Amino acid sequence: MMTSRRGVVVLSLLCAFTGTAAWQLPVTHSSSRTGGALSVSSASYLDSLSTVTPHQTYSSVTPPQPSNVDYDKVRSDLKLLMDNPSWDDGSLAPIFIRLAWHSSGTYDAATGTGGSNGAGMRFDTEAADPENAGLEVARAFLEPIKRQHPNISYSDLWILAAYVGLEHTGGPVLPFSPGRTDHGDETYWARTGMTYGRLPAAEKYLCPYVPGDSLGNSQDAAGRIVGWEGLCTHVKNEVFYRMGFNDQEIVALLCGGHVYGRCHPNFSGYAGPWVEHPTEFSNEYATDMLEDEWTLVSHADTWLDAQGAAELRPAPGNRQFVNKKPGHVDDEPNQMMLASDMIVAWDPSLRIYLEAYAADEARLKDDFGQAFKKLTELGCGFS
Ligand code: HEM
Repeated sequence: MMTSRRGVVVLSLLCAFTGTAAWQLPVTHSSSRTGGALSVSSASYLDSLSTVTPHQTYSSVTPPQPSNVDYDKVRSDLKLLMDNPSWDDGSLAPIFIRLAWHSSGTYDAATGTGGSNGAGMRFDTEAADPENAGLEVARAFLEPIKRQHPNISYSDLWILAAYVGLEHTGGPVLPFSPGRTDHGDETYWARTGMTYGRLPAAEKYLCPYVPGDSLGNSQDAAGRIVGWEGLCTHVKNEVFYRMGFNDQEIVALLCGGHVYGRCHPNFSGYAGPWVEHPTEFSNEYATDMLEDEWTLVSHADTWLDAQGAAELRPAPGNRQFVNKKPGHVDDEPNQMMLASDMIVAWDPSLRIYLEAYAADEARLKDDFGQAFKKLTELGCGFS
């Protein structure tokens, strides 16, 4: 694996988070080729964040006043922040999109609880949901903007950052509706009956992974992981139908969401990007899902390292699909799919939309934009 130093960058974030004068923090990050794994210096930057209490961490101007916010200025400040050669593939858009999705994706239509209103991830319990691992980075990158614009609520800022990220990377341009308010403390969690498990897990209900066992034993003749129907039920019923989405919207959200960014072994345990250009909107996720051949791998698949694809080797205990085959070295960019991505190709009622989006990028852009706006407004009382 090639390790490249991308230079020394200045992060004013740490200053914003710790209030120290030592605001110039040299951070070495790896490039896309090195899998986005955090280097020692950026890992200690994250360690330093984890020792900061919520009260120190977040601005405490209460309550924010949306009518006093210059949203155009917030937008332009977010734009200035968006390209960042020190982070992953050079853009913060992916991690901001994931922050907006995870802050919204807790919504439960039956009880009207969860959703982006409240910015509950500022508090320990929601932040510690295992599915939210790594999003402290996104929140930290946004803190200086919050300091600059104290009247915008965190819950509005997290969503607006994703909209600006989408627009900045050629994705849909979404009109922003402000007005979300932040929870004042963590009592919302018990009061609204929130629990972990509202956000999707990429391997839920699959046959268990047995380290040392051949992965082929957990696949059926069509290459699907045994138990995939259970995972499909999880993604559809337990997550997206629960929020009020239909099959077409699920596929639009996945095709538009996972064209961005990458998995980080030290966050989720999965590894690598879904597409060749993970900082640009396209329908590449849909086309590659259908056109590429996908091989199931685990941490034990060290042949990936030997074939220049170490960035695709997941952490111990995780399985994912990669566009590589043992013994066949190729020039294809390193790409991966989660099991929860593959169900979109395996389930006939989802696959019809996958095929439609692979054939029509403009349609994906429209449908993804509408679904993402709906997602980020669930429970906000705007419509
Ligand atoms: C079945 C549903 C989903 C599952 C199981 C899932 C799972 C994951 C996982 C495991 C990661 C890697 C996190 C990391 O290691 O940093 C990830 C990243 C990401 N997800 Fe999803 N996801 C789902 C749906 C969505 C949706 C609906 C969106 C947006 C519309 C989205 C947007 C993203 C983005 C942009 C990233 C990259 C973040 C980065 O580069 O830091 N995901 N997802």
